[in-house]
Amino acid sequence: MAASRPTPARIRITGRMLNRLIVWAPWTWPAIRGPMRRFFDRTAPGWDDRTSAGSVDHLAALAGALLYVKPAPERALEIGTGTGEGALLIAREFPQARVRGVDISERMIEAAVAKVGLDPEGRIAFRVADAADLPYDDESFDLIAHLNMPPFIAESARVLRANGYVVVASSWGAATPFYTPRSALDWGFAKRGIEPIAAGEASAGTYWVGRKPPKPE
Ligand SMILES: C[S@@+](CC[C@H](N)C(=O)[O-])C[C@H]1O[C@@H](n2cnc3c(N)ncnc32)[C@H](O)[C@@H]1O
Repeated sequence: MAASRPTPARIRITGRMLNRLIVWAPWTWPAIRGPMRRFFDRTAPGWDDRTSAGSVDHLAALAGALLYVKPAPERALEIGTGTGEGALLIAREFPQARVRGVDISERMIEAAVAKVGLDPEGRIAFRVADAADLPYDDESFDLIAHLNMPPFIAESARVLRANGYVVVASSWGAATPFYTPRSALDWGFAKRGIEPIAAGEASAGTYWVGRKPPKPE
């Protein structure tokens, strides 16, 4: 796996701006969706080599967060999965779990599907979907993960089961284009009843873990 080059400043600054809009002003998403999809469709070819996706450094923050996910989930979803490396890590860590990965970019999903084959009923499956309008019923998952991806908080909270976990991990900490500061995650998820249970660093990355409380008796 080739070493990743530093993200150009222009992309880092634009990414941070878009991330802020999605977290603080999610109603702006319809205006961002088209350019976002086109950007990632264009950058999908060669993504793993350019960004070192799948390397230890890329996955360390997500792996650190998964240590807090107990008991092991039955159904896990990675949102903004790109070429699928985060979902594949979840599948390795939790061999009993059914794992789904979604991404708005068709080209990214093609690259992810190429790693596992096309079996929508299989243990691991990928599909094109928008995090702002997930094609899943309420309370479908007991783990929802984001790796280098802005959280669409309302939809994540909707599809998360009681006692389920949300993870937001950034491979390069605050230098990640799609990085959400801990204070924004605490604030945004608390509004949906999800409380932080852990936050930390692993390799160059950072992670945040939240949990939905049990249903009242
Ligand atoms: C920076 S990339 C990270 C990809 C992968 N998680 C990784 O770490 O290599 C962000 C990904 O989020 C996807 N994305 C952005 N907005 C999305 C949305 N609303 N719904 C689903 N995927 C989205 C992009 O297409 C892109 O693949």
